Amino acid sequence: MHNVAITGTGVFTPGQIITNDELVTAFNAYADFWNVENAAAIDAGVVASKEHSSVDFILAASGIEQRHVLEKEGILDPSRMFPSLPARRDTEPGHMAEIGLDAAQKALSAAQRHATDVDLVICAASNMERAYPAVGIEIQKLLGAGGFAFDMNVACSSATFGIQTAADMIRTGSIRSAIVVNPEICSAHLEWRDRDCHFIFGDVATATYLERDEGLQQHHFKVLSTRCATQFSNNIRNNNGYLRRTQDAMDDRRDMQFVQNGRKVFKEVLPLVSEHIATHLADAGVDATDLRRLWLHQANKSMNDYIGKKVLGRAPDPMEQPNILQDYANTSSAGSIIAFSKYSNDLTKGDKGLICSFGAGYSVGSIIVERG
Ligand code: COA
Repeated sequence: MHNVAITGTGVFTPGQIITNDELVTAFNAYADFWNVENAAAIDAGVVASKEHSSVDFILAASGIEQRHVLEKEGILDPSRMFPSLPARRDTEPGHMAEIGLDAAQKALSAAQRHATDVDLVICAASNMERAYPAVGIEIQKLLGAGGFAFDMNVACSSATFGIQTAADMIRTGSIRSAIVVNPEICSAHLEWRDRDCHFIFGDVATATYLERDEGLQQHHFKVLSTRCATQFSNNIRNNNGYLRRTQDAMDDRRDMQFVQNGRKVFKEVLPLVSEHIATHLADAGVDATDLRRLWLHQANKSMNDYIGKKVLGRAPDPMEQPNILQDYANTSSAGSIIAFSKYSNDLTKGDKGLICSFGAGYSVGSIIVERG
């Protein structure tokens, strides 16, 4: 068995930003148009009018101040309300492969490695641009890597589940290294016309390079232990899929996007995650007081505050549990990796930390690391 280390991470951040102000202005304009168009049905009591969204609510309920997106004009056009991302021709790189490649190249550069050092590419994300060929294989080709590649989807836990998968293969010796890439184009699965969730998501891509922990000279984190868990729930769901297209209700596409029962998620996921982390730490022989940092999934600030407090037994300092939610919103599986990538350089040899993501499934993945 080999030991495993993370030697590099990379983040691709889209250049376009939507502030809460811009988002709410567009939503409210859409709601006003809709109410005028449906005035007769509203007056007859057949449908309810659409209420305005609010910047204050969004910040208080989620902690989100803005989000990066690949294409903002289409999202903010009240007569459209979804991104304009034209389908790529078969001869062009796909959207996911393109942003995943950027993050992967940054991770390799941070690890001081080349594409030829990569034995495996896993593209792990909440949504896949197509069924096949795997986006991971396209990234492998664009990168110029050898070995093999595949896609996997465990929603918001895709990155940590991908890291455990890669780490297990490195441990057993079937590969020497792997890059786990998380291109999350969440703007395309979000219903921007739904007031209850239109503020939640943003776009990003992250990548994590893992290799055998043997004679490493560069900055790295030892992967001490990984753990994944799942428990079925319908409270976060997306019914998009090839069988869905054969059914009658082709005009009702709302359930082919992200749908959630946010309150239930909040209530049910918190105990699941707190318990998962406590058991993982105990089994790995790591005391919570040894943890210098928590890099948590970034869905909601109150959720993270709660989990941080449960794990440490006290309210964490901002630098003990860094949030990137205010700048990026929820970027699904990529959120905890953004936090890890941006807030880990200052740790010193022997410092321990925990990466943890959680979400649809339900699913929870945790990784205990130590600065090498
Ligand atoms: N602007 C203004 N008011 C809004 C609003 C908006 N955009 N969206 C909802 N509201 C209103 C609701 O209508 C409701 O009004 P009511 O009390 O009169 O019925 C009130 O605000 C509270 O709504 P609710 O949806 O219960 O808010 P919440 O406090 O639960 O926060 C979430 C909503 C989604 C931020 C929160 O539930 C959450 O983060 N859940 C976990 C989500 C998660 O982790 N999901 C995983 C995704 S991968």
